[in-house]
Amino acid sequence: MSQIRRRIFTLSLLIAIFQKPLALFAVTKPKFQPKFVGQKVNFQGRVFTAVKGKVNGKMILTWDSGKVLSTPAPTKSPEVISPSPTPSVTPRIVEKIEIVIAQSNELPSNSVKKFEGINRYGYQKGYIVIRSESNLIALSDICTHQGCKVNIEKEGFHCPCHNALFDLKNGQVLRGPAAHPLESIPVREESGKIIVTD
Ligand code: FES
Repeated sequence: MSQIRRRIFTLSLLIAIFQKPLALFAVTKPKFQPKFVGQKVNFQGRVFTAVKGKVNGKMILTWDSGKVLSTPAPTKSPEVISPSPTPSVTPRIVEKIEIVIAQSNELPSNSVKKFEGINRYGYQKGYIVIRSESNLIALSDICTHQGCKVNIEKEGFHCPCHNALFDLKNGQVLRGPAAHPLESIPVREESGKIIVTD
């Protein structure tokens, strides 16, 4: 009997030892729900794809376990001879990526909406998309004064922090203290999806 107890104790000990290292390798998936099969997001250094999966016997849309982003091959730049002995700091350059932020039918003609997407740094970001009869424009939802998020209101994109107002048609400044228009983001539509490059 005591031998059986000893075996159970050893087994529990082994499980406790191996559980922690496994937890270290667990993948953190995006916190928001995917919208359609095949949707891709860049999150914490991995690219996740939306897939169908069974949970408790029900088919749901969920994220796969993601693939690690490949680091772009370094490009050769001409040698620079610095006249100063002071070492310079080169900022980290991360290439822009294409982000699917919505389905085309979510934005009817002559309307404006805010969508969310994960940008190239892995952070969730708000994108304002304006659809006129013939044109599609995307803007950042970050106020150019001190970085608060603007809201879509009747008279324009309104910043709640210091009351700046931007034009609903193009993000130009209508009222300070902001001095610059909202950042323009490249946007296109393909296969019924709205895609920004950021
Ligand atoms: S941060 Fe928007 S007006 Fe100041």
